[in-house]
Amino acid sequence: TTPIPSLEVGLLEKLEAPLADVPSIARAFEVIYHNLALTASDQFLPTPIRALPTGEEKGRFLALDLGGTNLRVAVVWLYGGDGLKVCTQGSWNIPEHLKSGAAEVLFRWVADRIGDVVGEYLGDVGSEEKERILSEGMELGVTFSFPMEQTTHDSALLMPMGKGFTFTTTNDLSSLLKAAYDDLLSTTTPTYPLPRLDIVAITNDSISALLSAAYLHHSTEDVRAVAGIIAGTGTNATCLCPVSKLPASKQPTSGSSTGAILLNTEWSIRGTAPPLKPYTTTWDVQLDLENEKPGFQPFEEMVGGRYLGELVRLVCLDLFSSNVPKSQLPEKMKLRYGLDTKLCSDVEASVNDDEALSLLQDYFDPDTSSSTTSSAATTTSSEEPEEWKWDLLSAASFRRISTAVSTRAAALVAAATIGVLGVNDELKHHAEKQVLVCYTGTVLEKYPTFRERCEGFMMEVVERWVAESRIPPAPSGKRRAVRLVEAKDGGIVGA
Ligand code: BG6
Ligand code: GLC
Repeated sequence: TTPIPSLEVGLLEKLEAPLADVPSIARAFEVIYHNLALTASDQFLPTPIRALPTGEEKGRFLALDLGGTNLRVAVVWLYGGDGLKVCTQGSWNIPEHLKSGAAEVLFRWVADRIGDVVGEYLGDVGSEEKERILSEGMELGVTFSFPMEQTTHDSALLMPMGKGFTFTTTNDLSSLLKAAYDDLLSTTTPTYPLPRLDIVAITNDSISALLSAAYLHHSTEDVRAVAGIIAGTGTNATCLCPVSKLPASKQPTSGSSTGAILLNTEWSIRGTAPPLKPYTTTWDVQLDLENEKPGFQPFEEMVGGRYLGELVRLVCLDLFSSNVPKSQLPEKMKLRYGLDTKLCSDVEASVNDDEALSLLQDYFDPDTSSSTTSSAATTTSSEEPEEWKWDLLSAASFRRISTAVSTRAAALVAAATIGVLGVNDELKHHAEKQVLVCYTGTVLEKYPTFRERCEGFMMEVVERWVAESRIPPAPSGKRRAVRLVEAKDGGIVGA
């Protein structure tokens, strides 16, 4: 094994600093979340949801899942008894230009996609179902992966958005969608008739994840599904909070003032930054300054799939440009967002440095990737520095940096998750039950071993807190456990 260059050792130390402190970061998150639940107006947003599904819900619904990267539309049948079928569905990448245009243009594109899926479903079903839909219309549930102000299930005022979405509108999501769908019905002559749509439910993706998992794995004697988290393009969490804990401004205006309410924590918005301050590196600062909305979601910038590749790029740029002029480095290495998080994920999954090297060559220099490589810092003559090329040493450095960035993200998501469970004192009660945290999002679903690393850090915190008597041990010598469980198709089923 080759020794790690000393400059790299220093960079890795900065990225790895939080790993030694995960239990205290979790505690700091817990404290700040309590305060934010009581005070913040743009975080710990109350929702109209007062109970989790039982698994006995039934019906046929149209579902729309608008995330930061993809749009999905599907027809979903719930049969009760946990039974479920996701029928006709479509999935599209949201075009970049729609993220910064007028909201109406984005939603008109969304309406067109709804038309595509409904049209296809009507083409597939028997005449009885088709006639029923055309005469009765369809009920639409919406998962919208952004902050919203909500007092009823069927309306939601949009709030400032992250993940590269820069349009501003404080319009009601339901009116925007309805206007766009009406526009579709009136301005095009579809080859098939389309039904009336009733928007009956709108919710955030973190909440959808919990609702869908509650439908499928509803709590049992041994297990409690209590929180939903997202680690994908962005990050977020939801938790149940006793209504009595909330200030009057966050209490439901109708219905019982006892029981619980689901909060959309928006845990990445600026209020959650203090616990992260000691671990914020110069690369985090730079990424934030260059973001469309500096200061808006500092936590998301440390853990979101939109940003992990960019962080790795900034660190690598510092490391590799210490030996050669920046101009010699590959173009994508110098380009903002030039390094996809997917590449980091592939490199971390590669079996050895040779495979990592060929992935990096293919990505950064596809035309000459088969050419021979030289050392990262060599020059041909005293005047002309030779173009910098990937070699085994730089590929190994890349892999270590990428692993440090993704492990830091897993540790911070774990700390925040345990912190969020504190809003409901979840770990102080029900010591006999396993706690399930339901998740969706490409980082947790697809990034190699991210889920395992995250779960490992969560267990480290739980064990430390049991040892410190902050939370009770499980009865009869069992291990207290907090587990992550995937809410498959969460955005669709939850909607
Ligand atoms: C999907 C959910 O699985 O994950 C969406 O259905 C959610 O509701 C999304 O927004 C988050 O992940 P990503 O990686 O697409 O941002
Ligand atoms: C962003 C959004 C939030 C969403 C999360 C995950 O942080 O603000 O609403 O849940 O991304 O998609």
